[in-house]
Amino acid sequence: MEEKKKKTIGVPGLLAAAILCLSSLAGATGEAGQKQLRFRENGEFKILQVADMHYANGETTPCENVFLSQMATCSDLNTTAFVHRMIQAEKPDLVVFTGDNIFGFDATDAAKSLEYAFSPAMSSNIPWAAVLGNHDQESTLSREGVMKHIVSLKHTLSQVNPTGVDVIDGFGNYNLEVHGVEGSGFEKKSVLNLYFLDSGDYSTVPSIPGYNWIKPSQQVWFQRTSMNLQRAYMSKPEAQKAPAPGLVYFHIPLPEFASFDSSNFTGVKQEGISSASVNSGFFATMAEAGDVKAVFTGHDHLNDFCGELTGIELCYAGGFGYHAYGKAGWARRARVVVATLEKTEKASWGPVKSIKTWKRLDDQYLTAIDGQVLWSKSTKEGEIERRRKETQLHQLLC
Ligand SMILES: *[C@@H]1O[C@H](CO)[C@@H](O)[C@H](O)[C@H]1NC(C)=O
Ligand SMILES: *[C@@H]1O[C@H](CO)[C@@H](O)[C@H](O)[C@H]1NC(C)=O
Repeated sequence: MEEKKKKTIGVPGLLAAAILCLSSLAGATGEAGQKQLRFRENGEFKILQVADMHYANGETTPCENVFLSQMATCSDLNTTAFVHRMIQAEKPDLVVFTGDNIFGFDATDAAKSLEYAFSPAMSSNIPWAAVLGNHDQESTLSREGVMKHIVSLKHTLSQVNPTGVDVIDGFGNYNLEVHGVEGSGFEKKSVLNLYFLDSGDYSTVPSIPGYNWIKPSQQVWFQRTSMNLQRAYMSKPEAQKAPAPGLVYFHIPLPEFASFDSSNFTGVKQEGISSASVNSGFFATMAEAGDVKAVFTGHDHLNDFCGELTGIELCYAGGFGYHAYGKAGWARRARVVVATLEKTEKASWGPVKSIKTWKRLDDQYLTAIDGQVLWSKSTKEGEIERRRKETQLHQLLC
């Protein structure tokens, strides 16, 4: 397989690379003439997540797991129609496709299949971003080839890999900044940070079977990027005390997604968590960085829950595509996330106040379900205050 040729490096090399690229990483995004994402005049920024479209050849590609009576009239075009309907209903500021965008085994021409799959986003004039799943490279393009083709498409903010980083595993690791409302004190600051990573396809280590994982090189990049963004956010103008919230998008769930049961998640779990069989520590890396509030994946089409572990919400979107395995009678679905800014005293907009999510089903009414708050500033600050008091108490008693 093509992707085996990608560069991998050991830990000493990693550290050297991290030090070398420290300076070049700062402010590496939002450049290259790309449209700067920013909050709307109403203080909101909305993201539509589309997971696992599994697109193949369009009209001739049959649906999977729909009722027998629905088979004759069902194809990839139903997936296209669903993307269109979601965009029209929610009018998102960004659409994020979290991998298995195409189902390579059945797609006869990867480039064409990608163009079909992303066409509703391309024609909507809405910026969109994509990462790779484990099936995107199974057609006529390698993982690198797929990612390169994606970045050439209209209105995408996807990047093959971050600028200023020489060595990183995978294709489609990048971040996007979302600036505050135009004309507010936050117009030149990133108040919401989006991270995109390539969670790979399959392990290339013979002794470790199963799916791939997020590698140290990617985690070092994430760490440096998060640190630089936090430093900028906590400096003038409008220097903040806590980091701007971060949201992370990739395809394969982390082993930590298995930390929940129905007593502590919102949504459903109808199949196992298909993460890598080893834990490469990305959850700990995110927790340590301190800015990430939620992680969004796909991969397991029959799971659509969000569960919170040590302050980070781990969310599935639920299966979207009709040429993807699913469950007849259990509607295909998509996840929406909206971040809302705080009103400042001067009747302007400040930093992010809350992040909410819900899902919509591909039924007649695009029924919205499972609305929940993923994060809010007040809770967070209350939590910090509570922990500070606990520490003080502990110091007093011990
Ligand atoms: C697929 O789309 C066709 C054409 O709009 C529609 O008649 C059919 O009900 C859809 N199938 C499913 C399973 O949604
Ligand atoms: C969820 O609840 C189960 C018990 O029902 C518990 O074992 C698990 O640790 C809980 N998970 C989290 C993240 O709190």
